[in-house]
Amino acid sequence: MLRGALLLAWVLSAASENYMDVCLDGKHQKVDPGPEDDLHGQCTPWKEKSCCFTNTSQEAHKDQSYLYNFNWDHCGIMSPACKTHFVQDTCFYECSPNLGPWIQKVDSTWRKERILDVPLCKEDCEGWYNDCKKDYTCMENWHKGWNWTSGTNQCPIETKCRLVSDVFPSARDFCEKIWSNSYKYTTSVRGSGVCMQIWFNVTNGRVNPNVAVAKRYADRLNSAGSLQVGLLLLVPLCLAWAI
Ligand SMILES: *[C@@H]1O[C@H](CO)[C@@H](O)[C@H](O)[C@H]1NC(C)=O
Ligand SMILES: *[C@@H]1O[C@H](CO)[C@@H](O)[C@H](O)[C@H]1NC(C)=O
Ligand SMILES: *[C@@H]1O[C@H](CO)[C@@H](O)[C@H](O)[C@H]1NC(C)=O
Repeated sequence: MLRGALLLAWVLSAASENYMDVCLDGKHQKVDPGPEDDLHGQCTPWKEKSCCFTNTSQEAHKDQSYLYNFNWDHCGIMSPACKTHFVQDTCFYECSPNLGPWIQKVDSTWRKERILDVPLCKEDCEGWYNDCKKDYTCMENWHKGWNWTSGTNQCPIETKCRLVSDVFPSARDFCEKIWSNSYKYTTSVRGSGVCMQIWFNVTNGRVNPNVAVAKRYADRLNSAGSLQVGLLLLVPLCLAWAI
């Protein structure tokens, strides 16, 4: 009986995965998170524990960086207010060690993993959309379909530049579709403990609010995993007993 219990405990702990303090296996992220004292500009909130190097944080602020050669100005110059959100989004994607619960394997030439359905706090999604809705774009999904023949993304000739608010009628449309469901729109607010912030302050002793949110989702995933394994193990145990 004791042996059975020990076995059960061992299988359960083996089943629990580590979703905390992990870096996405992407194009530029570090293997493991760690301190980066010199993170640049809007990426500084992650400097205590970061998945991005200093050089990546600098590039994240450039118009056409070597990170992805992505051209924000594909339908005229993107407004500065809108661009700051894309910079913040880049910092979050490159630097956050709290995306573990939403990392998925992906079959792609430029990365092995992606994020899927990260629940964004309402303020972060709506603020982003509101500052971008008067800008222009020709694409709904910015991950694919571009004309890359010039080395940077250009609008394919059959597309037209339209107002962001026409391409994406709502903040939900915008946040979810632009990076092919990397984000999920939520009506949860900052501080609720159930949604992630791309913008946050760590000054005056405040901690990264996304740590607790990731922990909550990681625990949920781990207990769902343990339950499955536990049930799988209990069935033969019960059968053995019955016989
Ligand atoms: C950025 O810096 C890291 C660490 O110093 C280095 O390994 C990496 O190659 C650099 N990346 C580029 C593109 O310079
Ligand atoms: C792609 O861009 C090149 C020039 O950079 C142009 O000659 C070509 O017609 C474009 N193709 C499409 C499908 O947009
Ligand atoms: C960060 O602090 C500034 C200044 O105190 C404030 O205006 C801003 O709303 C704060 N941002 C967040 C996401 O809490």
